[in-house]
Formats: sequence, C-alpha cells, structure tokens
Amino acid sequence: MTTARYLVTGGAGFIGSHITVALLKKGESVRVFDNFETGRRSNLKAFEGLPGNVEVIEADLRNLAAVREAVQGVEVVYHEGALASVPRSVADPIKSLEVNVNGTQHVLVAARDAGVRRVVFACSSSVYGDTPTLPKREDMTPTPMSPYAIHKLTSEQLCGVFTRIYGLETVALRYFNVFGPRQDPKSEYAAVIPRFLTALLQQQRPIVFGDGEQTRDFTYIDNVVQANLLAAAAEAANGEAMNIGCGERISLNEVLRIAFDLIGVNTGIDYREPRTGDVRDSLADISKAQHLLHYEPTIKFQEGLAATLAALRSGIE
Ligand SMILES: NC(=O)c1ccc[n+]([C@@H]2O[C@H](COP(=O)([O-])OP(=O)(O)OC[C@H]3O[C@@H](n4cnc5c(N)ncnc54)[C@H](O)[C@@H]3O)[C@@H](O)[C@H]2O)c1
Repeated sequence: MTTARYLVTGGAGFIGSHITVALLKKGESVRVFDNFETGRRSNLKAFEGLPGNVEVIEADLRNLAAVREAVQGVEVVYHEGALASVPRSVADPIKSLEVNVNGTQHVLVAARDAGVRRVVFACSSSVYGDTPTLPKREDMTPTPMSPYAIHKLTSEQLCGVFTRIYGLETVALRYFNVFGPRQDPKSEYAAVIPRFLTALLQQQRPIVFGDGEQTRDFTYIDNVVQANLLAAAAEAANGEAMNIGCGERISLNEVLRIAFDLIGVNTGIDYREPRTGDVRDSLADISKAQHLLHYEPTIKFQEGLAATLAALRSGIE
C-alpha cells in the first residue's frame, strides 16, 4: 500500500468518484475503497491524468480487517460506500443493514483505532420520512419510512456517539437527491434524473411512480463535493449532522418539462403506481450547513441538469 492522506469509501461510485476527483485535482493522495457492487470500473477513468496520487483497494466494508488496513496513515475518511437505495433496502433489508450500518461501524472503529482525525459520513434526507413540515430542519424528529432510512439514521447516530465517547471527529451530511455525471442510469434502482435523461435520449417515455407532483430538493454533485471538502476542516461541525441540499424543491413533472425543453423532445410520461417507502415531498433547510461549514450551493438545478445531459450525450457515461 502507498501512503494516502484521504480514504474515500465507495470511491468507484457516483458521489465518491467526484470527491476523489476533487481531491486529486488539489494534488492530494487518495485511497479508494470499493467492492464495485454498484460502483463502476469505468468511473475510475475520471482519476487519470490528475495531479494527485490514487490507489484503489477492492474490498468489502463488511470485512473489518480490510477496513482497518485501508485507514492506515489516513487523516480524513469520506465514507460514501453503501447500498444507496430505498427500494433495494425494501427488497433486501438484511444486506442493507450489514453494509450500511455494520460497514459504517467498521469504518468508525477502524478510524478510531488508527488515529484518523475525522470521518465525514454520507447520510440522507430519507431520515426525515414523510413529515408534512417543510423545509426539513435538523432539529425535527426523524421518522424513517424504509430500512435504508433507518440504516442511515443509525449510522449517523453512531458517528455522533463515536465523537462523544471516543473523541473521533465526525460530521454527517444529509444529502438531498444528488444528481450529476457518472450517476448510474442503468441499474434497476437508478435515481430518477439519470433514468429520465437516458429514456428521453432514447426517445422512450420516462416512468414516473405516482402522479409526478412529488417534489425533491435536487442537488447537483458539485455542491455536495463542496460540502464534503468543507466538512473535513470546519471545526464547529465536529459531531454534527446537517442538511446538504439547494433549498429549492422541484416536482418530477417539472423536471421532465425542463428536460423535454433541453433535449427538444416530448415523449409523454408513463405514470405507474407509487413505490413503497418513497416520501412525498422533500426540501432542505440548509442554514445549519451555511452557518457551520460556510456551505453555499453554487450550481442551481437547471444548470446542473444541462451539465448532466451534456455528460450523458458526450458518452462519458
Ligand atoms: N445519490 C444520492 O442522491 C444520495 C442521497 C443521499 C445519500 N446518499 C449516500 O451517498 C453515498 C454515495 O451514494 P451514490 O449515489 O454515490 O451511490 P453509488 O451506488 O454510486 O456509490 C456507492 C458505492 O459504494 C460501493 N459499495 C456498496 N457496497 C459496498 C461494500 N459492501 N463494500 C465496499 N463498497 C461498497 C458501491 O460499489 C459504490 O461504488 C451513499 O452512502 C448513499 O447512501 C446518496
């Protein structure tokens, strides 16, 4: 193993690969830990030709010994590795718990024992569940509606407990519907934006579960990367959990209207029955991250959608 200042678990995945690229662009040394369950080898191409050094370890978060080895000499862990899907957790709650909760606890124990300074954890807006109050604030009582949401909330709370009882610095970022280039459009559990764009580029009718009036605070990947880099350093954020979104909500029907315009097609929409565990509306109050991290989303929805579309079209995907 070479030396590395940063470890990115899930670094072959969508968000992890973007964090890795941002670190490499700054000339940093990064170790990527991934079992390629949902991450893609093609995502590793994004690391080529950048100034920093990267080493890829193919291993499983459920293997504590492998995680212990991966954190050696590391200052900051970005823990993105997970089975990142509500419907996947509904289909297989046991595996979701093993990867998402036990995997996180392995990262925390290994980080504590190896003297890692800080772990930044990828949590999720799904912890809020279907409470009618908008925007979602961190002081609201979470009401998770799926195994995935429970696993993310449990992991976030483990982070806080590790800070309090062992002094390991942690920050949990509750991401709100992240989208951007390299998000997998093909998986059975693909997120809506890559699914929609891919369908439209193939002149197919996109599938919407429900009436399409459900809303989300769609957050372009660059904003999430910015939040992660800030979270590694911000002293006041230690032991805290905070929302990372854009503070704007958009319905799925509106997303499709904008996408129809950008692409210049109108395929119509294939509406299906709503899915179990999905929440109706989601919107982040981002004032805590603004205050503690000085986070400020710089790329708004439409610009992010155009960039995602351009990446899909240019065959980077
Ligand atoms: N994309 C979003 O909108 C969103 C929203 C909220 C939270 N998150 C969280 O952000 C993180 C990254 O999500 P993403 O969208 O990039 O998903 P992704 O599936 O692209 O990335 C997850 C990565 O983790 C890896 N992984 C899965 N199981 C593993 C295991 N047992 N051992 C090692 N690696 C394993 C996968 O191969 C993949 O590369 C996840 O923790 C997810 O829960 C994502």
